[in-house]
Amino acid sequence: MCGIIGYTGKQEVKEILLDALEALEYRGYDSAGIAVSDSAKRDVEIFKCAGRVSDLRKVCAQEEIHAKCGIGHTRWATHGGVSDANAHPHKVGRVTVVHNGIIENYKELAAEYHLSGQLQSETDSEVAAALLNALYESDPKEAVYKAVARLEGTFALVILFEDVPETIFSIRNVSPIVATQSEEGCMLASDVTALCRFTNRYFVVPEYCLLELHADSLRMQDMEGNVVEPEYMEVNWGLNSSDKGGYPFYMEKEIMEQPKAIQNTVENHIQNGMPDFTEEGIPDSLFQECERVCVVACGTAMHAGLIGQALIKSILNMHIDVELASEYMYTDPVVDEKTLVIAISQSGETIDTLEALKYARRQGARSLAIINVKGSSIARESEFVLYTDAGPEMAVASTKAYTTQLALIYLIVAKMAQVRGVWNEAQVKEYIAELLRVPAAIEQVLERRREIHLIAKNILEAKDLFMIGRGLDYSLLLEGSLKLKEVSYIHSEAYASGELKHGPIALITNHTPVVAVVTQSRLMQKEISNIKEVQSRGARVILFIKEALLQELKQEIEIFTLPDLKDEFMVIPASVALQLMAYYVSSDKGFDVDKPRNLAKVVTVE
Ligand code: G6P
Repeated sequence: MCGIIGYTGKQEVKEILLDALEALEYRGYDSAGIAVSDSAKRDVEIFKCAGRVSDLRKVCAQEEIHAKCGIGHTRWATHGGVSDANAHPHKVGRVTVVHNGIIENYKELAAEYHLSGQLQSETDSEVAAALLNALYESDPKEAVYKAVARLEGTFALVILFEDVPETIFSIRNVSPIVATQSEEGCMLASDVTALCRFTNRYFVVPEYCLLELHADSLRMQDMEGNVVEPEYMEVNWGLNSSDKGGYPFYMEKEIMEQPKAIQNTVENHIQNGMPDFTEEGIPDSLFQECERVCVVACGTAMHAGLIGQALIKSILNMHIDVELASEYMYTDPVVDEKTLVIAISQSGETIDTLEALKYARRQGARSLAIINVKGSSIARESEFVLYTDAGPEMAVASTKAYTTQLALIYLIVAKMAQVRGVWNEAQVKEYIAELLRVPAAIEQVLERRREIHLIAKNILEAKDLFMIGRGLDYSLLLEGSLKLKEVSYIHSEAYASGELKHGPIALITNHTPVVAVVTQSRLMQKEISNIKEVQSRGARVILFIKEALLQELKQEIEIFTLPDLKDEFMVIPASVALQLMAYYVSSDKGFDVDKPRNLAKVVTVE
């Protein structure tokens, strides 16, 4: 949560900061601000406001800003409401700070160091700035070390000292910071998408290492003052892969990218038609020796885990739990060295998932992470990592990250079936061959997106909507329903069809839209009975059905037929259809599809 940027180098900094903040805006978009270090004036100037980066651009346009060093922030409010005063950067005395995270002991620190009189905002972050200022005599590093020793909680702090021009200091605990050096200067950011435009090389700043950026050099040292060398890694995302590519919204672009993203993810993990994780160094024993599996994840990633649960139970006959990462540690989970914990996360930074993974590892569990962002915190915490090849996902509502997570889950299931002797080679190959048909099936859904747009037009006015299905259809509808409510603000609930009559059916009245998904042959007859139940109570049913299952259904139902794949793979084309429906509802309502209210893409607070 909250996006941070810093640059010092040869170029004018204003546009660099504003462009980078736009790239990071998915981390929070309540307010934005920049601070620039002007060496001529030996001064730090701040420009900030409540609202989007586009509002900040207007503020900055009215000012003469000439500087080659600065820091910036885009905020997702935690402590203190959305206001100009609470926007970062915060300047107290000679110290200017942007912060991501939560300083838990901010009240105690403010009292102990008598800081209250200097504070103009309600934020915990300003207390960090005031503390640094109180501890700053003449050595910035000493001030940082002393301050950090007193801070409790999570933080990524980026600091300018007024009398140390064109130099940026940064230190972090848990909350991420990545950095790089290029011909043009040195940069740091909350995540790599903001650096992509400059370079594809970057390193993760280790926790409690003080980073010092100058125009032509950077240096890191630990809390004892020992030099720490950066460990550079490369991101294989193109320099322009984080632009909208001609689409009005990232969400549409990312939905359309799914065939390619899934194809890349699968092809990079198969060899001779068999699942292959040798490049990642994952031994077969990881899958052979475990007695149970536990997925920890949040939001959409958790929904991907639910699909994994259904597959692992039915194909491998194994015990598997899917836990909301935020609840995991507090619910006395059954976890030991025979448990394989799979952490799923697009960003690799979701703090609840990270903490759940750490907890499981402390209990002796083996671990595997499914991640999209290289070198992210969860990737580094996990014993093994499989990366999705989704490329940068910028829209807050996750689409291609979800389906590429599913692609890796199918591969993991195939690998487990192989190494546990559940399937012979021919069976594994047949399964992988069907997985390779998925991108073409998605293409077919995408080609018919106008039909889905028409369906979407009929639910624009809905206040409430239900989604019903059984088995895998129910699991995928949980995600379909989340997608719709995230971007359209329609109250949508997914129900297992059979459960509907135990309460929610009371809410079905004339014309209530009910989206039904029918893709599982063995459940079809029961699903159709449940559809008839809601129809007979006046519901307007919209049906997404596997083509091969389309039988004597009544014409009055709005039907979208899904391309045929084997039942267990129908999840992906069905999910894509529901993503498109959510997207069109949101865009037709004129919403900012990529930045739904109150949400953020990377959730680094518990
Ligand atoms: C936020 C995002 C969701 C995402 C969830 C988990 O809520 O808005 O799109 O599914 O976090 O994020 P992760 O990065 O761990 O997959």
